[in-house]
Amino acid sequence: MTAQPQIASPLEPVPQLDLSAQYAAIGAEIRTAVERVMSSQQFVLGREGAALEEEIAKLCGVTHGVGVASGTDALILALRACGVQAGEEVLVPPFTFVATGSAVSALGAKPVFADIRPDTYNIDPAEFERRVTPRTRAIVVVHLYGLAADMDPILAFAKARKLPVIEDNAQAIGASYKGRRTGSLGDLACLSFYPTKNLGAYGDAGMVVTNSAKLAERIRTLRNHGQSEKYRSTEPGWNSRLDEIQAAILRVKLRHLSNWQRARQSHAAEYNRLFSQIPGVMPPLAPEGFDHVYHQYTIRVEQRDALQKFLSQRKIGSTVYYPYPLHLQPLYASLGHKAGDFPHAERAAQEVLSLPMYPELRKEQIARVVETVAEFLKC
Ligand SMILES: Cc1ncc(COP(=O)(O)O)c(C=O)c1O
Repeated sequence: MTAQPQIASPLEPVPQLDLSAQYAAIGAEIRTAVERVMSSQQFVLGREGAALEEEIAKLCGVTHGVGVASGTDALILALRACGVQAGEEVLVPPFTFVATGSAVSALGAKPVFADIRPDTYNIDPAEFERRVTPRTRAIVVVHLYGLAADMDPILAFAKARKLPVIEDNAQAIGASYKGRRTGSLGDLACLSFYPTKNLGAYGDAGMVVTNSAKLAERIRTLRNHGQSEKYRSTEPGWNSRLDEIQAAILRVKLRHLSNWQRARQSHAAEYNRLFSQIPGVMPPLAPEGFDHVYHQYTIRVEQRDALQKFLSQRKIGSTVYYPYPLHLQPLYASLGHKAGDFPHAERAAQEVLSLPMYPELRKEQIARVVETVAEFLKC
C-alpha cells in the first residue's frame, strides 16, 4: 500500500497561484538583472531583448523570435504578417481567452469558430471542413492549459487548403507534441509573458516565434512603426516593443523554467493519483505523445459553481478558465450565434475548474485540495 501524504492544516489557505513563493526563491537574481538594465540605461530594443529572443526561439526549436509588448499584440502581428485583412475569416476555437478572437477582430476580420474536443478542450480539426469558406485566410489554434492541440490533422488540413497556421502558445511554453515543441509546429507562434503564465514577466510582454526569416522581419518592422530602417516607414505599424527590464527578468526566469515545469508535472501526477479514487471528477487528459506543461490543472465536475464556492469557504483558491465561450460573449453578439451552436465549448465553460497549480505547491496542499473536493462530492 502506498503511503498517503499528510494533509495540510484545514486553516491554511491554498491559493490558486502564488507568485510570492516564486519571488522569495529568485528575488535576488531578479534584482541583479534589473540593476544590470538600470546601469546600462538602455531600456528599449537592446541586448537583453535580443538575447531573450534567441533563447526563447531556441527553447521553442525555431530560428527567430521577435519580442513584442504582449501576447495579444503577438497574435495581431502574426495575423497581419500572414496577410489577414478586413472582411476575411480566421478559424479559431470558441473556448479560449478572448484575445484569441479579438486579435482577429482587431484587423476587421471575422473569427469563425470550430468547436473543441471534449476530452482535451482544444480545437477539433474534424470541425474544419464545415466551417471553412472561400474567405478563410488562416487558422489559429490554442494549446489550452499547457496541452498541445492535435497538430497533425490540423497541419494536413491547412496544407491542403494552403492556409497558414498560427499557434496561440500563450499557455504552453515548453510543451511538446510528438517530440516537437509547441511554437515550432505552425507557421508562426505567439507567446504571452503575462505575469501568471508559466514564464511570466513583471508586467506585460510577448513574443512571436517562427522559422521564417521573412515573417520575422515583417513582424520586426510592424512592431516598430513599420520602420524598415530608422525613421523610414514602409507601412503602418505601431509601438509594440518588449522592454529591456522585462526581457532581463524573463531571462532569469527562463533559467528556472525546466525545473518549474517538472514540478508542475509532478504535482499533476499527484493530483491524478489522488483523483483516480474519486468518482465524479474528470482530471485533465494528457494523450500519449503530448507533453503537458500544466499551465493549469483543470478538472471537470458537474456541480462546478457549487464546488468552487465550497472550496472558497475552505480557503482553497480555484478559477474558471473560461466561463463564457467566445461565441456567446456580448462582443460577438453581432455574429448571431446562440446557445447550442458549439456544445462542447459550452459544456466545458460550465464544468471546468482550475485548481491550485504552481511549482512551489506542496504535496500536503494537493492532498487537502483533493480531500476537500471529495468531501464536497459526498455531500
Ligand atoms: C490563450 C491566450 N491567448 C492570448 C493571451 C493574451 O496574452 P496577453 O495577456 O499577454 O496579451 C492569453 C493570456 O492572457 C491567453 O491565455
